[in-house]
Amino acid sequence: MCGIVGYAGPIGGGAKEHSRPIEVVLEGLTRLEYRGYDSAGVAVLDGEGAHVVKRAGKIVNLKEALESEAVSESAVAIGHTRWATHGGPTNENAHPHIGGKQGKLALVHNGIIENFAHLKELLLAEGYEFHSQTDSEVAAHLVARAYDATGNLTTAMREVVSMLEGAFTLLAIHHDEPGTIVAARRNSPLVVGLGEGENFLGSDVAAFINYTSRAMEIGQDNIVTLTADSVDVIDFDGNPVTDSKRYEVEWDATAAQKGGYDSFMAKEIMEQSQAVADTLLGRSEDGKLQLDEMRIDEAVLRRIDKIVVVACGTAANAGEVVKYAIEHWCRIPVEVELAHEFRYRDPVVNEKTLVVAISQSGETMDTLMAVRHAQEQGAKVVAICNTRGSTIPRESDAALYLHVGPEIAVASTKAYLGQITACYLLGLYLAQVRGNLFPDEIAQKMHELQQIPGKIQQVLDGMDQVRDLARRMVDTQSVLFLGRHVGYPTAMEGALKLKEIAYIHAEGFAAGELKHGPIALVDEGQPVFVVVPSPRGRHSLHSKVVSNIQEVRARGALTLVIAEEGDNEVNQFADEVIRIPQTPVLFAPLLSIIPLQVFACELATAKGLDVDQPRNLAKSVTVE
Ligand code: F6R
Repeated sequence: MCGIVGYAGPIGGGAKEHSRPIEVVLEGLTRLEYRGYDSAGVAVLDGEGAHVVKRAGKIVNLKEALESEAVSESAVAIGHTRWATHGGPTNENAHPHIGGKQGKLALVHNGIIENFAHLKELLLAEGYEFHSQTDSEVAAHLVARAYDATGNLTTAMREVVSMLEGAFTLLAIHHDEPGTIVAARRNSPLVVGLGEGENFLGSDVAAFINYTSRAMEIGQDNIVTLTADSVDVIDFDGNPVTDSKRYEVEWDATAAQKGGYDSFMAKEIMEQSQAVADTLLGRSEDGKLQLDEMRIDEAVLRRIDKIVVVACGTAANAGEVVKYAIEHWCRIPVEVELAHEFRYRDPVVNEKTLVVAISQSGETMDTLMAVRHAQEQGAKVVAICNTRGSTIPRESDAALYLHVGPEIAVASTKAYLGQITACYLLGLYLAQVRGNLFPDEIAQKMHELQQIPGKIQQVLDGMDQVRDLARRMVDTQSVLFLGRHVGYPTAMEGALKLKEIAYIHAEGFAAGELKHGPIALVDEGQPVFVVVPSPRGRHSLHSKVVSNIQEVRARGALTLVIAEEGDNEVNQFADEVIRIPQTPVLFAPLLSIIPLQVFACELATAKGLDVDQPRNLAKSVTVE
């Protein structure tokens, strides 16, 4: 939710460096556009003060504006791409905001300042003028005002953060400190990129991956003062912070490019075989499962009597899938709860509860709040996360990273598969630690998991049939998805994909629930996807789902059936059969979701929609 970028280069760098700050910031904003695309803007410092160029709409509008507006030489630049919260997506509400009565400061903000109304009143009474409806402009004026009193941007920022309530990452530049950017963060993301004679700031490493792969995590309630050749960190009390973690980013700029595909989503779907292989890489040695990032004592894990998975959206669907496996292997009750619901009831959680927080971004505010709430009740938290250095794994007791590379498309695909795979590893690890499974059983399951990337590739290679189907169904108004057992969350995830990128009404149901209401939705021609379990597994479940297909077909439904190779029983009841390779029941969700992802992606493309940046959405939801 909102992307921010900062660049600090040498003062008076000369003609070649003249355009670099703006170029770097624009490039970073383009890579962060998935975080929000309601407006975009940049600010530099010129002879008089802060110079801001900003436009409503996507970054392309800002780029056009910059072609006709000369920007003077500046050592620093900051930029912002917005997902609107306070105030509509207009030019005025776009960031950066100018601060102070002389317009010497520019500031960008990610997050929500909850007490902005009260602060705005104070500033209005002092004669400060406002040009936007945002909460952020308050911070711009406050920092400028504090600068007038202290003459130091870092000190000014420190004074202001103590006045703010809510979540924020702030970046500020000031005319009187022409080589400096000061940034502060509380509950919103910020990472430093370390260059040679230049330094960077970004909401995530994608912002500067084109220029450096050396990154530095910035902790909660920290302030960074950045110049071309220095990075100083203090906490909100002014104490120096010397233990900020430095790390090398594992992927390079090509991973964040479309690489010939129509959309990032199409590319990320096709990367899923590799993604799962990467999540599995290096986890098992001598037949024993190793999870390096697990820092929770094994004795504590042995005492656990309940697991609660907290997550939102697709990550929550991943949790619903793995519940079946973890309960089956570890014999521990597993609850899966939407993080925003968990946080605001009175959940029974204590030191015997293991909370598993699943989040691709590691920044989802609802999930972060659930993590904190669980920890307050004494629970241990394991984060299942894709983004290194993000807040949720930093605050958790242990972290298991997906290693699937950057996911740029707003609709999650490869991270979903990575999340499920990582949770399987966690489940097997718990079963190993607690002695629920014998070593040879764990080794067998690991062996089966190792076969999955090859099977994913097989599914991906056969997807032309689904693309064809999607193009034929371009005018569809509503699609239903049915499944039982692990097929049920798969159905929900298939429906979510279609809703969010193709704007088609879609619902995922437990097939057994059909007769209790949803079957009333079925009439002539209603498309219904059905995820059929393996006939080799629990036979009764297979036959029950086959009955469900017949029930909807009898009422005129168009039946689109995802079934295992060799399951010929479904043929007579299906208008279309989409095949997936045979695989153990609990691992089948890693295969059966793929046709549904491809279907949504192709249908949205055929409708001419922006697949990667669907309306009203943002990749990481950093507000509650
Ligand atoms: C849907 C989607 C979202 C996210 C959800 C949680 O395709 O991407 O539903 O899954 O917003 O995001 P993370 O995993 O970053 O916490």
